[in-house]
Amino acid sequence: MAAQNMSKIRMFSCIIWLALCFLVECEDRQQQLRFDGKTGEFRILQVADMHYADGKKTLCEDVFPQQMASCSDLNTTAFIRRLILAEKPNLIVFTGDNIYGFDASDPEISMNAAFAPAILSNIPWAAVLGNHDQESTLSREGVMKHIITMKNTLSQLNPLEVHIIDGFGNYNLEVHGVGDSGLVNKSLLNLYFLDSGDYSTVPSIPGYGWIKPSQQLWFQRTSLKLKRSYTKKPEPQKAPAPGLVYFHIPLPEYASFDSSNFTGVKQEGISSASINSGFFTTMVEAGDVKAAFTGHDHLNDFCGELTGIHLCYAGGFGYHAYGKAGWTRRARMVVASLEKTGKGAWGTVKSIKTWKRLDDEHLTAIDSQVLWSKSSSGGRRKKPIGRL
Ligand SMILES: *[C@@H]1O[C@H](CO)[C@@H](O)[C@H](O)[C@H]1NC(C)=O
Ligand SMILES: *[C@@H]1O[C@H](CO)[C@@H](O)[C@H](O)[C@H]1NC(C)=O
Ligand SMILES: *[C@@H]1O[C@H](CO)[C@@H](O)[C@H](O)[C@H]1NC(C)=O
Repeated sequence: MAAQNMSKIRMFSCIIWLALCFLVECEDRQQQLRFDGKTGEFRILQVADMHYADGKKTLCEDVFPQQMASCSDLNTTAFIRRLILAEKPNLIVFTGDNIYGFDASDPEISMNAAFAPAILSNIPWAAVLGNHDQESTLSREGVMKHIITMKNTLSQLNPLEVHIIDGFGNYNLEVHGVGDSGLVNKSLLNLYFLDSGDYSTVPSIPGYGWIKPSQQLWFQRTSLKLKRSYTKKPEPQKAPAPGLVYFHIPLPEYASFDSSNFTGVKQEGISSASINSGFFTTMVEAGDVKAAFTGHDHLNDFCGELTGIHLCYAGGFGYHAYGKAGWTRRARMVVASLEKTGKGAWGTVKSIKTWKRLDDEHLTAIDSQVLWSKSSSGGRRKKPIGRL
């Protein structure tokens, strides 16, 4: 009898323990991004400039006249839904001008509708602000405060460890190794999100906002901290984990390219701030960043490489955003892939690739390119040292 009770108790506690493990696992799945154990991939869908307003009532811009009557914000929604089904991303990143505040009667309703496809997909998502998100009744702080309450978002108002920082929506996310590998607790891919502001508040400087020194200092410290934990035990690595940076307004360095040295197109000028606040240099110095991704200029969708860092646009996504009739709305995918170790387990990141998807019948993929691979260390191959 006593032995029977004991085994019941044991069984019961085992069930509780399993239930707890399951809960913890669920929690982990929601909170901690991870590479896929089957494919060794981490897939990011970037949606730039949705310019969402009042849904069905908000008409499209720059489509052909005969397309006008049947085109609204709902076309933007349909495009995201199709992309999610086709690309099965592990994270969806919205790089600002998510809503077009000026035409949004209620910014919360607009945001709820704009992010709905991401929320309904149950895929984690992250957002930063553009220069139009605050043009309705909510301030930039108010917009970001609403975003962070939404389901399945990993967006944050600002880093907890920093007391004073410019802007709203500066944060980073870690993508950890595969569950059963020795890299389960290590961040193999680092994602940084920054608020590139809206407009200059300095009277003598006209134009758009920029990434301020306070944000750059946070970025520097975060990058250094991540580098330290990556290169120390267990499984100490030699070089920092690759980093990707997402924000809205392109840096002045985006103007360093022409069609001879970028992939994609440039159909309008680079609308960066009129001064250079040095964030590109800060990224180069940090040493881990392989690419930066912005939106803002809807007619540019190129990627060009400058001193080991790719500067990429996603291209215009939203139908209520300016565009060019006949030039299909688009989005950018980024996929980081792990290498297989000698023992057949997943190792660290081997390569990072990108392409764009067009909103045509077949969601045509174009301009596929490798942004970084471990052997080529960002395109800057090591010069052979010594003889031969
Ligand atoms: C917008 O969506 C409607 C309804 O699905 C469709 O008929 C129309 O062709 C779409 N317009 C554009 C420009 O894609
Ligand atoms: C990962 O972290 C968990 C929780 O702290 C720990 O139990 C586990 O041993 C760690 N695994 C590895 C391989 O470092
Ligand atoms: C791209 O090519 C142009 C000349 O065609 C050159 O002026 C520019 O410096 C190049 N940019 C980079 C980043 O190599």
